[in-house]
Amino acid sequence: MTTSILSDLPIDHVGAQILISRTIDDLLRTAATGIIDIARASVAAQGICTIALSGGSTPRRLYALLATPELAAEMPWQDTHIFWGDERHVAPDSPDSNYRMANEALLSHVPIPQENIHRIPAELPNAGTVAVAYADDLRRSFHLGADDPDALPRFDLILLGMGEDGHTASLFPQSPALSELKALVAANPVTKLDTTRITLTLPVLNHAARVWFLITGGGKAQVLMEVLEGPRRPEIFPSQLISPSDGELCFLLDSTAAAALSPRLHAGAVAGLG
Ligand code: 6PG
Repeated sequence: MTTSILSDLPIDHVGAQILISRTIDDLLRTAATGIIDIARASVAAQGICTIALSGGSTPRRLYALLATPELAAEMPWQDTHIFWGDERHVAPDSPDSNYRMANEALLSHVPIPQENIHRIPAELPNAGTVAVAYADDLRRSFHLGADDPDALPRFDLILLGMGEDGHTASLFPQSPALSELKALVAANPVTKLDTTRITLTLPVLNHAARVWFLITGGGKAQVLMEVLEGPRRPEIFPSQLISPSDGELCFLLDSTAAAALSPRLHAGAVAGLG
């Protein structure tokens, strides 16, 4: 059943932009200035910017760069709302918490109003309750009508990483949440980690105006080549399921992560964002 559902989902990385930076520092600066541009444009156009952060080690350096005085001063923090693409089922002060990482690297250093920080309440004992509570926050924050159960939040930007197993957010290979096409948020049991993760679901991820993968390091080269140029095997490589229906998909790579990509993809890589 999972495979049949997965086979119905769109896959079109042909439409994806690929940006390859020579070094991680070049990549992070490109990403940081791109985020600032998106935030300023979104606030100018709609009075608000909504961004979902990723966990992991790569984004931590990006968040620290965004927290530097020069760049932090460029962000419209008063009108920027921060969410998370996924969270571990831990308290916010846990070393494993994606919230704690982002708060320590970025949010505690910038003038963002506390009410603009939409932390996933992962301290709640029941993971299903966490998912429901976060979904309720999304509905309130994006003003989704209770009378429209199929309404989806449309993030201005969702940042994603990719694990060496091809997972993204907390959509892990052969995990139940890969088939969750109704709920906004899922409590996803991850067998190999012996834990349950909280994650935005594919309908939400693929409804964003922009989805950016930040992928660095040679350890990701092979799996990235499989995801982008290998056969469609989304139950093995969930990152293949990220394909915004009406939005931009961009892979922001450093040269080591891009090392296994074909000359065709290298030739098609863009020089800048937007
Ligand atoms: C998490 C992330 C996860 C991460 C990848 C890549 O909660 O850990 O959401 O999906 O993005 O594991 O992590 P790195 O960028 O650290 O390799």
